[in-house]
Amino acid sequence: MNSRDLSGKAAIVTGASRGIGRAIAEALLSAGAAVALAARSRDALERTAAELAGRTRDPARLRAIPCDVRRYEDCRRLVAEAVAAFGRLDIVVNNAGIGHFAPVPEMRPQDWRDVLATNLDGVFYCCREAVPHLRKTGGWIINIGSLAGKNAFAGGAAYNASKFALLGFSEALMQDVRHDGIRVSTIAPGSVATEFSSITAGQGEDWKLRPQDVARAVVDLLAFPDRALPSLIEMRPSRPPKK
Ligand SMILES: NC(=O)c1ccc[n+]([C@@H]2O[C@H](COP(=O)([O-])OP(=O)(O)OC[C@H]3O[C@@H](n4cnc5c(N)ncnc54)[C@H](OP(=O)(O)O)[C@@H]3O)[C@@H](O)[C@H]2O)c1
Repeated sequence: MNSRDLSGKAAIVTGASRGIGRAIAEALLSAGAAVALAARSRDALERTAAELAGRTRDPARLRAIPCDVRRYEDCRRLVAEAVAAFGRLDIVVNNAGIGHFAPVPEMRPQDWRDVLATNLDGVFYCCREAVPHLRKTGGWIINIGSLAGKNAFAGGAAYNASKFALLGFSEALMQDVRHDGIRVSTIAPGSVATEFSSITAGQGEDWKLRPQDVARAVVDLLAFPDRALPSLIEMRPSRPPKK
């Protein structure tokens, strides 16, 4: 895979009903790929799929597959259904992610588990199921990390832990599968204007990255020649509020 024309390729994007995942799904569709959109809420997912279908000439390239990435069985079904629908799998974008922010003594154990289960377990489950298919196509796994995976902050223990761990996971996976012809990359954005977080709420949105910026990084990555593997891309807003 080394082109901006992704015709004939098939992708899965988790967390695709809104925000960054939706923008990535839209960019992959525009580049010609078939895309399976995954998220928990069936209604939101189907609404997004219908909107994206209205913008493509070939709605058969779209599938909405409800999936809670915290559940291994859901991830198994997601990969199986996408492969059954498209006959192949070339690209997996592990984007689904949540944040619960509180100082450790105030963090509820269930919130801790939900963050780790979504941001880390879900990535493992989807990768585990996808790798056998990606071996056949020389595919690409792209994990959406965060600058919170290298910069810790007060109240961020669960989210920081999940995204620090995701970086380690991605690098180890990259070494596991690179000789099978599978590339693994992490894109680690700073603040992106989505519904994700209350952390930067109230600071306005103008200075933030847009979901489309992250989507562009995904499509640009996929255009690299087979010999090249940009394994970690950090993206920052160029002019954040001065501290
Ligand atoms: N926004 C930022 O500033 C920022 C910065 C750096 C990195 N990121 C990362 O970028 C990714 C996307 O963030 P976003 O800002 O686009 O968030 P968002 O707008 O809140 O969207 C999150 C998406 O993930 C889905 N999702 C949540 N839990 C899920 C689960 N258990 N299984 C399947 N899908 C699930 C949501 O749909 P349902 O709720 O229906 O499942 C939704 O489609 C996350 O990994 C986040 O950590 C965000």
